[in-house]
Amino acid sequence: MSRIYLSPPEVGAEERQMLLDAFDSNWIAPVGPDIDAFEEELAERAGVDHAVALSSGTAALHLGLLLVGVGPGDDVFVPSFTFVATAAAVSYVGANPVFVDCSASNWTIDPALVAEELTVRARRGRLPRAVITVDLYGQTADYDSLATLCEEYGIPLIEDAAEALGATYRGRPAGSLGTVGVFSFNGNKIITTSGGGMLVADSAELIDRARHLATQARDPFPHYEHSELGYNYRLSNLLAALGRAQLRGLDGRIERRRRINEAYRVGLAGLPGVEFMPVAAYGEPNWWLTCILIDPDRFGAGREEIRLALESVDVESRPTWKPLHLQPVFDGVATVGGASCAHIFERGLCLPTGSALSESELARVVDTIRAMHH
Ligand SMILES: Cc1ncc(COP(=O)(O)O)c(C=O)c1O
Repeated sequence: MSRIYLSPPEVGAEERQMLLDAFDSNWIAPVGPDIDAFEEELAERAGVDHAVALSSGTAALHLGLLLVGVGPGDDVFVPSFTFVATAAAVSYVGANPVFVDCSASNWTIDPALVAEELTVRARRGRLPRAVITVDLYGQTADYDSLATLCEEYGIPLIEDAAEALGATYRGRPAGSLGTVGVFSFNGNKIITTSGGGMLVADSAELIDRARHLATQARDPFPHYEHSELGYNYRLSNLLAALGRAQLRGLDGRIERRRRINEAYRVGLAGLPGVEFMPVAAYGEPNWWLTCILIDPDRFGAGREEIRLALESVDVESRPTWKPLHLQPVFDGVATVGGASCAHIFERGLCLPTGSALSESELARVVDTIRAMHH
């Protein structure tokens, strides 16, 4: 019985071939034809005009903040219910995250709280310099009101779509819904380059600037000349080749993860105290992770007991994000609301959703959870 991981990479013959072709071409550097092609192909898929391939999603967030002008002392709205990288990037540029709770109806940043907080801050003359939204576990945030609010107040919107490549909001692709969009190709994502990311936007000017900053801000001289400080954030051409092969299989991966979500719904149907992450009517997720909420009183066991039972049969599962306003590193950071994501954290569990998960592996997860019900 082999271990079942939460969301392991899945690579095949096409990945191997494209990686070796890049290797044989000797483009083993952070420049090369696969990078150019990966940027073009990803931009097309994300419904944007321009993209720059980077070494991680975190690097993309960092550059995205710099591009829209966030700097020391600025405030930036960030959902509390997300991975630490979203807020870490805000701290990298010397700005202050302001955590905003999520809606119980879709687990993403609550537009009503954003609206309220903007009204209060407009009166005080202390508007945030940017708003970051996160398309969580593969489901986009609710952009109609968020985009309208940001426009009304003239605040740039950074879409952290690290987990949501291939998802849509009212027919529009994740990544295209803000001023800039961010993707991650970390090993656990729906497509991976082992590590990598992409910053996307319709503005050529913004993406050219990001490419400059990601290349040590080297000025166009034959010698090394620098008029500002940049970063070493470019993706390797080898990894871009891997990413291109993965991107070709994106639709199949989404479909397999959708079926896994459906199979969990069928397998866990009828169990009292088990709910799934709500699927919002406004879009189509990429089904990256399937998450459930356990009510311990009704189910007869709590989230942690279930996680340990799964671990005992070599199944990796993970509690949903611990909200950032409850993280020691962000102790004392301003927070708007917070009860909703704290509640999800107490009860939430992410289940294995790797696109290569087999029927018998699925059954191992489902049977173990069912056996915990008393
Ligand atoms: C929501 C979110 N933002 C940002 C990141 C950071 O991406 P990376 O690991 O590529 O730096 C991740 C995942 O790792 C993520 O889930």
